[in-house]
Amino acid sequence: MSRPCLPGSTPSRRTRLSAQGAQPGSFISWSDTMQRGDKMRELSGTTADTGSGSGSGSDELVFFVNGKKIVERNADPEMTLLVYLRRKLGLTGTKLGCAEGGCGACTVMLSRYQPHTQQLLHYAVNACLAPVCSLHLVAVTTVEGIGSVARKLHPVQERIAKAHGSQCGFCTPGIVMSMYALLRNNPTPKMADVEEAFHGNLCRCTGYRPILEGYKTFTVEGGCCGGRGRENGCCMANGNGAEKSSEEHSDEAKSLFNAADFEPLDPTQEVIFPPELMSLTKGQGPGSLCFRGDRAVWLQPDSLDDFLRLKWEHPDARVVVGNTEVGIEVKFKNMVYPVILAPAFIPELNRVTRTQDGVVFGAACTLSHMGAVLKKAVKTLPPHQAEVFLAVLEQLRWFAGLQIRNVAAVGGNVMTASPISDLNPVFMAAGCKLTLMDKDGSRVVRMDDSFFTGYRKTILRPQEILLSIEIPYSKKTQFVSAFKQSPRREDDISIVTAAMSVTFIPGTDVVEDLRMSYGGMAATTVLAKKTANRLLGRRWGEELLQEACSSLAEEMTLDPSAPGGMVTYRRTLTLSLFYKFYLTVLQKLREQGVNVEEVASDCLSAAEIYHPVTPSSVQIYQAVPEGRSQDDTVGRPMMHLSALQQATGEAVYCDDVPLYENELYLALVTSSKAHAYIRSIDTSAAESMPGVVCCVFADDIPGSNSTGPIEYDETVLADRQVTCVGHIIGAVVADTQLHAQRAVKAVRIEYEELQPIVTIQEAIAAQSFYQPIRTIQNGNLEAGFQQAHHILEGEMHMGGQEHFYLETNVTLAVPRGEDGEMELFVSTQSASKTQSLVAKALGVPANRVVVRVKRMGGGFGGKESRTTLLSTVVAVAANKLKRPVRCMLDRDEDMLITGGRHPFYGKYKVGFLNSGKVVALDVSYYSNTGNSKDLSLSVLERALFHMENTYSVANVRGRGYLCRTNLPSNTAFRGFGGPQGMMIAESWITDVAQSLGRPAEEVRRLNLYVEGESTPFNQILEQFTVDRCWDECLSRSGYRERRAAIELYNRQNRWTKRGLAIIPTKFGISFTATFLNQAGALVHIYTDGSVLLTHGGTEMGQGLHTKMVQVASRVLGIPCSKIHISETSTNTVPNTSPTAASASSDLNGAAIQNACQILVKRLEPYKTKNPKGSWEDWVKAAYFDRVNLSANGFYKTPDLGYDFDTNSGRAFNYFTYGVACSEVEIDCLTGAHKNLSTTIVMDVGHSLNPAIDIGQVEGAFMQGLGLFTLEELHYSPRGVLLTRGPGSYKIPAFGDIPNQLTVSLLRDAPHDKAIFASKAVGEPPLFLAASVFYAIKDAIAAARAESGISGPFRLDSPASAERIRNACSDRFTKLCPPAEPGTFTPWSVQV
Ligand SMILES: Cc1cc2nc3c(=O)[nH]c(=O)nc-3n(C[C@H](O)[C@H](O)[C@H](O)COP(=O)(O)OP(=O)(O)OC[C@H]3O[C@@H](n4cnc5c(N)ncnc54)[C@H](O)[C@@H]3O)c2cc1C
Ligand code: FES
Ligand code: FES
Repeated sequence: MSRPCLPGSTPSRRTRLSAQGAQPGSFISWSDTMQRGDKMRELSGTTADTGSGSGSGSDELVFFVNGKKIVERNADPEMTLLVYLRRKLGLTGTKLGCAEGGCGACTVMLSRYQPHTQQLLHYAVNACLAPVCSLHLVAVTTVEGIGSVARKLHPVQERIAKAHGSQCGFCTPGIVMSMYALLRNNPTPKMADVEEAFHGNLCRCTGYRPILEGYKTFTVEGGCCGGRGRENGCCMANGNGAEKSSEEHSDEAKSLFNAADFEPLDPTQEVIFPPELMSLTKGQGPGSLCFRGDRAVWLQPDSLDDFLRLKWEHPDARVVVGNTEVGIEVKFKNMVYPVILAPAFIPELNRVTRTQDGVVFGAACTLSHMGAVLKKAVKTLPPHQAEVFLAVLEQLRWFAGLQIRNVAAVGGNVMTASPISDLNPVFMAAGCKLTLMDKDGSRVVRMDDSFFTGYRKTILRPQEILLSIEIPYSKKTQFVSAFKQSPRREDDISIVTAAMSVTFIPGTDVVEDLRMSYGGMAATTVLAKKTANRLLGRRWGEELLQEACSSLAEEMTLDPSAPGGMVTYRRTLTLSLFYKFYLTVLQKLREQGVNVEEVASDCLSAAEIYHPVTPSSVQIYQAVPEGRSQDDTVGRPMMHLSALQQATGEAVYCDDVPLYENELYLALVTSSKAHAYIRSIDTSAAESMPGVVCCVFADDIPGSNSTGPIEYDETVLADRQVTCVGHIIGAVVADTQLHAQRAVKAVRIEYEELQPIVTIQEAIAAQSFYQPIRTIQNGNLEAGFQQAHHILEGEMHMGGQEHFYLETNVTLAVPRGEDGEMELFVSTQSASKTQSLVAKALGVPANRVVVRVKRMGGGFGGKESRTTLLSTVVAVAANKLKRPVRCMLDRDEDMLITGGRHPFYGKYKVGFLNSGKVVALDVSYYSNTGNSKDLSLSVLERALFHMENTYSVANVRGRGYLCRTNLPSNTAFRGFGGPQGMMIAESWITDVAQSLGRPAEEVRRLNLYVEGESTPFNQILEQFTVDRCWDECLSRSGYRERRAAIELYNRQNRWTKRGLAIIPTKFGISFTATFLNQAGALVHIYTDGSVLLTHGGTEMGQGLHTKMVQVASRVLGIPCSKIHISETSTNTVPNTSPTAASASSDLNGAAIQNACQILVKRLEPYKTKNPKGSWEDWVKAAYFDRVNLSANGFYKTPDLGYDFDTNSGRAFNYFTYGVACSEVEIDCLTGAHKNLSTTIVMDVGHSLNPAIDIGQVEGAFMQGLGLFTLEELHYSPRGVLLTRGPGSYKIPAFGDIPNQLTVSLLRDAPHDKAIFASKAVGEPPLFLAASVFYAIKDAIAAARAESGISGPFRLDSPASAERIRNACSDRFTKLCPPAEPGTFTPWSVQV
């Protein structure tokens, strides 16, 4: 029997699903059995016929999803499991966050039965990278499969929700599944296992702490006692020793959840592995298979011979095992591989054999498996034999996330031949042997620098495959180390990666053999051969070190324009890492009794291997007074109302709305040039591609093509000119996402390029500014400078930030068919703005457009105005085609198009007295605004309003410039200019302290405002609590003891330094555009007593709806359970302000209070008549009495209105205050840092909900930590964004939480400006992460002092590893001087 299996000969076979929800049409009953033919013969037929251009048919793919059997007869080799789950099975609990294995939102668990070990294997994987064809005989478990709100929650789901570990919830299913997979393998894990399980998961909202805390309850460490387990309160608070408990306050609460409420974990109750699948696997194994799709054929041989034969016949075929590399190439590099060979189940490729020389791993062994084998081996081998294994294990610790390691093969890593592979340097330094094979035989080669022949090229012939790799035992006198330096420790690609192996003549310190292998220093992994040769026969001592460093500096050079940038840093790292190796080996030689110099005690920490510390934390808040009704939840740590649904995958996000019957998908055509005229657009190729329905361009817009949130200075679709890379030019609409996205790539655009302006400095040089230039001035600047004893000038650049909400922008537009009506489901913070701009583009009145927002998977300001870019285009397409159209941006598109936080450059001149008192300040801010104004003027104004932070400066002038550049327009981002304004303030106050040689905290304290003082914009500070926060923070953090300990530590350690900083914040609350300070609410009471609440705010994870229900509950006097918020929509509450400026609880809370009070008043007579009656009785009585049980409420913030011209009027309703103290440790040799501790004291008034407020404090702090220490957007000099996904843009991960984190809400801090004496909290805490930045700066200053450098120095934000290392000037940096600026074109520029 021959079943020809050919790429490219079948039409699209996507199953269209009904609007009611996707149906798993291919589920068949458990009792069905699979009839399978002789795969060997089928495959022969397949290959014999491939290329003949005829034939049809694929094998059946059999797998199980959540216990149900699926037989897929049309498995598409290019389809991922994620698409299959979401689009074919309607299982939308599994989320798409990045499609590149970098965020973990798509995590599911796979289970296989392994006949040879008779064991079940459960492992977490990224569904976004798993080809559906690879799942034959696999059981897939998704978040829906383990529990649901309706059925029964799984403890993993319950605990993350109840521990407040789910805010927007978009990451939650993935985190749940990572934890679930861990528990399936190990029901009693350690905290270290939990932390490892989350290496591949990101969360942008929570700051991770509550997730870890919730899951700590599963661990052997016993978890948190929930505040009940010890006499003195929380076990963790007492355990970590950081928090000094305040004994005089009996109402001080330290627990946000009660672990006693949790259902126990019962491993015997888990979903069983499908028995049918077990017998199928036992009966036949996966066998050989063939699946074909539109463009590719998937061939899965089950024997080595077949594999070799197929590779012989298809030398261009792509071998795929884990697909973690190939999947990226197909998705992001537009690669098409017509023939895919999947050898994952061939026994020889999975074999692990011990030989005399080492351990041989089949090339398809996964990294997790390899790690497990090596760990076991290390335990049994004599230590001297295990050096290479330990080096491999060290690299594996920081290799991707667990989901990747569970599928990625060792052969895949070797054969990808990436210059930044983490394993290849070890394999090369260790001289591993590779067995290569083709049909005619095998050869064994040693991995050395001849193995890689060029960028991603090896010596393998096209017909050859890698069969195995032998990792050798080390010799008695051999020492091996491996190093990886990346921007973030967890799940990150290397900047430089290295492995070094030295062998000594026995009994001596004379070098017999030396191999130093580096990744990240050339197009391939390289050996520093010249240096190694020079050092042969030399003794391991200071002289050798010096020679090695100067030789490495010569040999490991990089072109200043090298891709990846960071050239000076990378070069320095080659030396620094060698130095670490040098110290390590010295120690080991001494341990072996060889006579070498002793490592100085202050250098020991340089050779230490980093081991993460399980974070400990405490949260402190004032409990509600005893005796208050339990129904009144205001002030209590109530769980986010959607948390359970979010944890089970039942929460519906915009792209989870089931597909409409006739729905189409849209993909955007965007500019690849930063500044150009569009000469022509050719869509002919795109339009002839499968599934394409039409293209949309500017002339399809029936209304106006001009758009923008305040000024209409942008186009919906560019017509003649483009002004940034990512500028939206048009769109392709097709039947599926895949077809639309493929077609977009076929649209040809010709440009006439113009000179772009990319950086702030270029804009300043060209005087390219938007108007107006803003100034706030107070006092007498000239007199102030005259009065000053010292005048200091400085500057600082603060980089931008990508929002990285886990859910990218998405819109579904549904034409209603009558009167131009259109309904839009949008993930937006601004329903009304979307409504008005869509109406404008469609040329219809706003009353025809309804915008509905159920929830967002995070917003952070990124969905305040820029969402309308996508929504209007989708609406235009839906209007043109009169069919529903949907688009969810891919992560790379979202990052490219939608802008982020404004980069700022600040220049200052500050005058101060000998005491440190600042008396004059002249500061200029330049923001990189991008190609339109968007909200940038308001952002700049807020920077100016925060230019003095909490410091009283009598004579001050701040000026702000909006730099017009050819970058995508920058926009709102949590803090909205405030962090930029305050960051520069903290720079000059640090400079003042450093120039006087005085402790920075003293200078800060000296300059703090006091109650009643006035800001530069003439607002008097009332109920000012920064001084209280400051004192409490000093005491809770044990500041003085820490400072003393740091000084001692720094004296004792040359290459690691610690630093400490305490930083205050004062954040103005109100929209600075006065008219936005209004809100509406609509409250319906139904006759059964249930209440439907609607207000103008949107839910993006910040818990707004939860707080609003709490407010309504208190005013109506009923439990929260009777109140429901369904969504935000423009046809219920009109003309809403964006959910932004931290003020949504204040504004909407007051509007809800207003509406509820009206209803309470209406019900009053019925309550009086029947005082013993129930709420339902009163409601019914009122209804029968024909009383209106619906009311709307309204609120506007009183007495606002600042005028820049006169510097008068109130800019803000009030201020939220806080103080944070952080301690860090830096590694001066690599620039890596550890966040040792942070203590935050935050004044949020009377908290409406301490769990939500502390969640906001911690989430904002971690986002700020990313901003100030980690997140870097790289742009090319031509304005192309180079960092477009989690692979290259690093937000904080679990491991970035400070080892000790204390958050305390200031007690007894009522105020009278917002609902129930609460305060806004969303944005203010973000800036407190500057304490980490300035602690780093403090540590760098200590390092510089070792080289005799003192006084102020410039440190730009973020304090990345590169900046930290470069600032720690020392003997190594001197050997690698930077290239002269202007003599080369850098890979990226500081924008
Ligand atoms: C999120 C993420 C994080 C990552 N982090 C890291 C990291 O920290 N460090 C690092 O070094 N890499 C990292 N990678 C890269 C990647 O995971 C590894 O290179 C991985 O080992 C590839 O294995 P695979 O089985 O998935 O390869 P696949 O994608 O299946 O294949 C990769 C290549 O190898 C070839 N190949 C595979 N097996 C054979 C064989 N037997 N014979 C011939 N050719 C073969 C394939 O044809 C293909 O060209 C990361 C990737 C992702 C997506
Ligand atoms: S969507 Fe799969 S890892 Fe991000
Ligand atoms: S809750 Fe984790 S990304 Fe929002």
